[in-house]
Amino acid sequence: MTRSPAPVTVRVPAKVNVQLAVGGPRPDGFHDLANVFLAVGLYDEVTVTPADELLITVAGPDAGQVPADASNLAARAAIALAARHGLEPRVHIHIAKDIPVAGGMAGGSADAAGALVACDALWGTGASREELLAICAELGSDVPFSLVGGAALGRGRGELLEPLETGGAFHWVFAVADGGLSTPEVYRECDRLRGDAAVPEPEASAALVEALRAGDAVALAGALANDLQPAALSLRPSLAATLAAGTEAGALAALVSGSGPTTAFLAKDAESAHAVAGALAASGTCRAVRVTTGPARGATVV
Ligand code: C5P
Repeated sequence: MTRSPAPVTVRVPAKVNVQLAVGGPRPDGFHDLANVFLAVGLYDEVTVTPADELLITVAGPDAGQVPADASNLAARAAIALAARHGLEPRVHIHIAKDIPVAGGMAGGSADAAGALVACDALWGTGASREELLAICAELGSDVPFSLVGGAALGRGRGELLEPLETGGAFHWVFAVADGGLSTPEVYRECDRLRGDAAVPEPEASAALVEALRAGDAVALAGALANDLQPAALSLRPSLAATLAAGTEAGALAALVSGSGPTTAFLAKDAESAHAVAGALAASGTCRAVRVTTGPARGATVV
């Protein structure tokens, strides 16, 4: 009797962009970036089990907002890996979702990276790191970072990664907004707001990279920057009140996470993070509040 392989579960972190410098639109519709990613300790868990056909299930408070079909980025990851190895993607992918959906925290990318690593282990395809990263880059600009985690500078459309050193844990609070924002719409709004103004080449900030390396939260707070923030605020003006509530409560700095609408607050220490979280929860300006730290490990079999 042949036994089915045991299920494989992979844990994958969310990210916050501590710097997101956005260049002008490229001919392919993407934007060149200097994208400094930091993985943070909010996780999705992706479990894969042999099945007769590709099946996606999603659990978690926002599960209803996640497509449970082949359009799901996790399904596309399994299909891409299977195709490269002459296999059929006969797998049940279950996503236990804790990362805010369409929140600017790379939840969909995390699920894709998780499904890829999990299917590779389940099927014994033994894909190299390079092959996994290449599939990730085909799936989406943020997917390679979900695989590697930690901290990294993403060039190109964000997929060309250079790992960055971090000198300690940073304390973060995330305010989850009602509903999501569409990433392409936020980029379009960024272009619209810039109009004909000249857009400089996106460059990583040396001060920010040094603050990460030193584990210096105050210096990092001074260097946080997100070029998509004006666009996210333009599409969702209510985020300004959330940012203000966290800053008034003692956050070192506040910014929109990626394309939003999740907002991120850097705190001096764990105690301050809990105070900021309490104030945000009481402010009535967000749907939920999460406290965590970064860096976090990339996609890991558990
Ligand atoms: O790569 P991904 O599928 O995550 O990108 C989603 C959308 O975000 C793209 O279709 C594009 O509109 C926008 N984007 C961009 N420049 C990037 C990354 C994403 O314009 N560097």
